[in-house]
Amino acid sequence: MKQNLIVIPTFNEKENIARLIEAIENEKVPSDILVVDDNSPDGTGKIVEKISKNNNAIHVLHRTEKAGLGRAYVAGFKWGMEKGYKKMFSMDADFSHPYTALKTMLNLSKSDRVVIGSRYIKGGKIVGWNWYRYLNSWGANFVTRMLLGIKAKDATAGFKCYPVEFFKKTNLDTVQAAGYAFQVEMLLRAQDAGFKLVETPITFTDRVAGESKIQGELKKSAKVVFNLAVKKESYRQFIKFAIVGATNTGVDWAAYVLFNTIFKQMFGGMNLQLIKQLAKACSFVVSAASSYVMNRKWTFRSKNTQIGKEALKFLIVSLGGLVINQTVFYFATGHFHFRDIFGLVLATAAATFWNFFINRSWTFKPDAKK
Ligand code: GDD
Ligand code: MN
Repeated sequence: MKQNLIVIPTFNEKENIARLIEAIENEKVPSDILVVDDNSPDGTGKIVEKISKNNNAIHVLHRTEKAGLGRAYVAGFKWGMEKGYKKMFSMDADFSHPYTALKTMLNLSKSDRVVIGSRYIKGGKIVGWNWYRYLNSWGANFVTRMLLGIKAKDATAGFKCYPVEFFKKTNLDTVQAAGYAFQVEMLLRAQDAGFKLVETPITFTDRVAGESKIQGELKKSAKVVFNLAVKKESYRQFIKFAIVGATNTGVDWAAYVLFNTIFKQMFGGMNLQLIKQLAKACSFVVSAASSYVMNRKWTFRSKNTQIGKEALKFLIVSLGGLVINQTVFYFATGHFHFRDIFGLVLATAAATFWNFFINRSWTFKPDAKK
């Protein structure tokens, strides 16, 4: 038995599986292979069964029916834990994940990190996807990262190397995702448990043989991601963020009234409108500063040391929010002829979401550890 294990879930991969196993074997990676087959009608399970008879590095787990990618992985990883493997890979059967990267990933692997074969970092590529599939994946990845705060660039990646320490820390029985969202759920758990997510670029090549099973997965996965998001502390963070926003609308108003009174006293003869504008500008600065401080201390509990940089980012995000606010209001009232109040609510909501997610994932993101 080797130290590590490559777990490959399969459903109807008869054109691929034997060739892939052979290719991996030729790479001489110090890993055994476990194929988790959901009783493929095309006989994939039987093909692997036959190979495993003559090769004790190849194993197959037969399951009774197609129960989803996530369930297959859970069964595979549990099997690997019982046998005592040190590192476990997740890998597709269809050659989309380059077996030539296995060694690199293994070299990068440590007990406190998950290594990701990444499509969305510099050097990573996707070959063979049409624009529609690409946009889908890119969008899913973007939304996932925003909603869950996953720090990896490729949050939906399927090609990964986990240390067994991770599986000892997490409870595989409580995994929600039966299907593709499993990939995301694992990364979120790893990150929350304090594991580093380390990415190495790969070229993802669309399958040549067989069919993708991703149809119908998008809706299911979106549901899981949403559930995970609500459970996260980010939900509470969002409430706090909204409270800070509302409070500072009040602060803005109070500061405006105050400045207006003071300036009227100070510059008695000046144009009244000019005084108002000046007061408004000052109250903006006060309320922006106060919401920055409240969000830093209370909402996000930021420990970043570069406060100047962080404050600048906050300002940039706020200006972006202002643009979104104006744009949404313009389209809602000017284009779609909504009532002003609906336009206002819509615009505020859109800007709040933007401000929250970008601030959380960018402005107040913890400093990268060296
Ligand atoms: N046992 C089992 N049961 N295996 C399954 C099931 C299932 O219900 N569904 C899919 N698989 C296997 C496939 O046979 C293949 O080996 C692997 O899981 C990936 O399935 P594909 O259908 O080829 O996935 P894809 O190419 O559309 O999606 C890839 O990219 C996604 C991100 O864009 C995968 O790498 C995903 O994991 C990844 O999230
Ligand atoms: Mn595939």
